[in-house]
Amino acid sequence: MTLAEKQFNFSNSHHDLMRRDAESVLGWRYEPRVMFAKGKGIVITDVDGNDYYDMTSGMMCMVLGHSHPELVDAIRDQADKLVHESSWYGNPWLIEFAELIGSTLPGDLKLVNFAVTGSEANEIAMRLALGVTGKYDIVSIIRGLHGGSLAAEGVTAVGGARKSNLGPLLPPAHRNAIYAPLCYRCPINLTYPSCDIACLKASDELMEHVTTREVALIMAETIPVAGGMIVPPQEWLGRLQELAKRWGALFCLDEAQLAPAKTGKIWAFEHYGVVPDILTFGKGMTAGMGIAGTVTTKAIADEARGKAGIPWGGTYSGDPLPAAVALKQFQIVLRDNIAERAAKVGAYLGRRLDELVAKYEPIGDKRGLGLYYMLDIVSSRQTKAPDPAMAERIRYNALLEGLVLIAVKNFVRICPPLIITEAEVDEAVGRLERAIQLAIAGYPKNLDFSQSSSLAAIEPG
Ligand SMILES: Cc1ncc(COP(=O)(O)O)c(C=O)c1O
Repeated sequence: MTLAEKQFNFSNSHHDLMRRDAESVLGWRYEPRVMFAKGKGIVITDVDGNDYYDMTSGMMCMVLGHSHPELVDAIRDQADKLVHESSWYGNPWLIEFAELIGSTLPGDLKLVNFAVTGSEANEIAMRLALGVTGKYDIVSIIRGLHGGSLAAEGVTAVGGARKSNLGPLLPPAHRNAIYAPLCYRCPINLTYPSCDIACLKASDELMEHVTTREVALIMAETIPVAGGMIVPPQEWLGRLQELAKRWGALFCLDEAQLAPAKTGKIWAFEHYGVVPDILTFGKGMTAGMGIAGTVTTKAIADEARGKAGIPWGGTYSGDPLPAAVALKQFQIVLRDNIAERAAKVGAYLGRRLDELVAKYEPIGDKRGLGLYYMLDIVSSRQTKAPDPAMAERIRYNALLEGLVLIAVKNFVRICPPLIITEAEVDEAVGRLERAIQLAIAGYPKNLDFSQSSSLAAIEPG
């Protein structure tokens, strides 16, 4: 097979939209700035009519794909009834959504404080912990991501340029004190399982030295996604929770990236036999609407009420339109056994990606669970040195092949809608393989990606 550089062939009006977007919208953008006009199932279509497989489910939201007919109906029906109301009153759709969420959760996790974004939901979790414990330190995972609002950014630790110049607006960085169990590049150079999770013992020591020793909350993604899709060893989360207990801290799991069903269970923590004190959700639970939330127990909510701004509320939190649509999506996910489907089709996708790992030197590792995977792109299998430029080339070429992926730093993410079929997986992997071959052949030439993507992968300095 001969590889030649392919070119995008956008219309003049598409180019014009790209130019106007650059001039009037301040936002992170990949290159080229494709403008999308519609979507159906796993396919998203640009303004020229070019189709792409959406392997990012938008921003990891569209678990049932684009324009799911039942969700389209739900949006229409609700638009006719009630879109917005004062968030200081309630609405039936929100109650039903909260009750349904509670019915899928173990223990006393029954009370939901709704928000609009995942960042807000995590800030509510922090407020709850401050309110209950009267303490201040929030300890999070090195390589964890909890959002872009300032307190959520403070407990985020994925590197890149996102914190630069924020200085004292962020809580102290020492709060990122738990080593992520990234066994592929062990932070303390040991090997699992003989290490006996020594990274947590090292984290415990770190907490002793860098915190005020007054720890309100330990916050973690069940699987830290943006920091490298770090699927923890089976015993890690349980031991992390023990650590929280020993420090007298509450334990929060952030499932904004993972719920519902993407990992093959409705909630990813079900894989690990732990039950957090606080759980946050967003993205996949929203069907693309602005609704996120923080779930906790009545005991914790009662203890925090009236302190640290709890209960928290904003203008749009729990509005009828997003509540009704997210409710409908969650009902379908449960009704159609989407978690089981994700586990089955995901196992197939995982095997197909393993073939790419075996075949192509720069694909150092594949990590993930269910139907959510990440490729770790390296410049050498021996050193495992991250290769963000290669990752960006793969993303760019994939777009040329009709495949939308996310590349941040050296990580290429694959998180299709959970309705994808095995035949579509085969087609997607074929397109991805061509993108990898083109990237290895050095295409595209002269790619400047210093301004591309939400965590521009440029080296500091
Ligand atoms: C794990 C996790 N939590 C929270 C957030 C923030 O969500 P939002 O962008 O809705 O504020 C993100 C965003 O990527 C995330 O990955």
